[in-house]
Amino acid sequence: MNYSLEINTPEKQKSDCIVIPLFSDQLKSSDFTPVAKLINDCENGIIQTLIERKDFKGSACESLLLPIKEEQHQRLLLLGLGKQEELTAASFKKAIQAAIASIKTSQAESLLISLDGITVHNKTAELTTRFAIEAINDSIYCFDQFKTKKSDKPTFKDVSFYCGASINTTELKEAISIGSAISKGVSIAKDLGNLPGAICTPIYLAKEALQLAKDNELVSATILKEKEMLSLGMHSLLSVSAGSEEPARLIIMEYKGGSTSDQPHVLVGKGVTFDSGGISLKPGEAMDEMKYDMCGAASVFGTMNAITELKPKINVTAVIAAAENMPDGKATKPGDIVKTLSGQTVEILNTDAEGRLVLCDAITYAEQHFNPASIVDIATLTGACIVALGHHATGLLANNDEIADELLKAGMSAEDKAWRMPLWDEYQPLLDSNFADMQNIGGRAAGTITAACFLSRFAKKMKWAHLDIAGTAWVSGKNKGATGRPVPLLTQYILNKVG
Ligand code: BES
Ligand code: MN
Ligand code: ZN
Repeated sequence: MNYSLEINTPEKQKSDCIVIPLFSDQLKSSDFTPVAKLINDCENGIIQTLIERKDFKGSACESLLLPIKEEQHQRLLLLGLGKQEELTAASFKKAIQAAIASIKTSQAESLLISLDGITVHNKTAELTTRFAIEAINDSIYCFDQFKTKKSDKPTFKDVSFYCGASINTTELKEAISIGSAISKGVSIAKDLGNLPGAICTPIYLAKEALQLAKDNELVSATILKEKEMLSLGMHSLLSVSAGSEEPARLIIMEYKGGSTSDQPHVLVGKGVTFDSGGISLKPGEAMDEMKYDMCGAASVFGTMNAITELKPKINVTAVIAAAENMPDGKATKPGDIVKTLSGQTVEILNTDAEGRLVLCDAITYAEQHFNPASIVDIATLTGACIVALGHHATGLLANNDEIADELLKAGMSAEDKAWRMPLWDEYQPLLDSNFADMQNIGGRAAGTITAACFLSRFAKKMKWAHLDIAGTAWVSGKNKGATGRPVPLLTQYILNKVG
């Protein structure tokens, strides 16, 4: 999809379909935006007539697609946004998706969306435009590579936005680039997540990284195989792949947009390409969804992609801990003790608490090799996070208030929200083990916090935060599919660092 900014005044524009949003409490023709006025005047007062006859009320998500005779535009889509002051990012995105649903079945090849005078409550015109792009991307996303009968693809390829006469053109163009880069990153993360575990293996993820490096001058990739990880002493990570036919990989991608001396910001992704639970086998129900246990890694891929498009002047290093968690004769057993790369030992009481076992070695590896300015790990780590926060907020835990605030702020502005939980020392003793330096589970209480407590023991020397995306990375049920979260949050977080 090509997204662009239309700077010409309404009468000079051209499109197959012009989308005019209207608020339900601004239906008087004197309230019309210049674009609405123009179309209304050229078409014998069509908008006014529809409003007077109450055929169009402007209520949220109402959409009306009409053929028009006006030379410049072939179709008009009136889109209801509800009351102006009630327009949130979520309701705005829903309305845009309703518009796309109507247009999808038409033959229009180009859209012109008028956002003149339309801003989401408490958000700028730039962010509003970004949300429109992300909403369009979400509604046209389709994962049908394994269906013999493909679903209909939308006919439109070009979407332009008209945002009025008094805009900051440079900033809006920038916002459109950011919106498209984030959208592409989200689609990449969704694709990787939706792929079956049999295809999206650690080796598959490693190939993705090599491809990204091949396509981008500013990115290099390094892949560590099991033999190298063994000689380094990454026994914790390797204990997870021990029962699998699929070998583990440590995948490193380095984006160098800053100067060589700049310390990199490190993103660590959990890439468990299938989590059966191992010997502590999971129950059968919805076990297919454990193909999504690499969504942390997928979000890092999506973010790295967005970054390579936007080219911020900063260094970002991705470390992906990729492994498959399976039971077999060589699998790790409850009660086994492993030595982590950091030297600390872990008693594995539950092989299903494997995310922290792969992440701890990846975090130590990052500390030893990259001198990180900061480190954020992203992981579908605990079912407990879904109990605590449901499916709207990503769990955030950090050993530093500054990085926590940066991530919360990025999530708020990009509309990909996180919520902080405590990481107090009081919780640490729950990990005490009789036989090793720590055990890998903390019991039933505060599961998300004890998981983060475990990781914090490997990030002591760094400014570190952990994002638990167990509840936000995918949706279950009839609309099962990856969400691409938290690519918007992470991309915004990186962009905010360059100002
Ligand atoms: N990948 C799961 C967490 C998960 C479960 C995410 C369901 C989303 C939906 C993780 O590896 C896991 O199994 N965690 C255990 C930890 C427990 C054994 C301490 C969990 O949450 O049950
Ligand atoms: Mn598990
Ligand atoms: Zn897992």
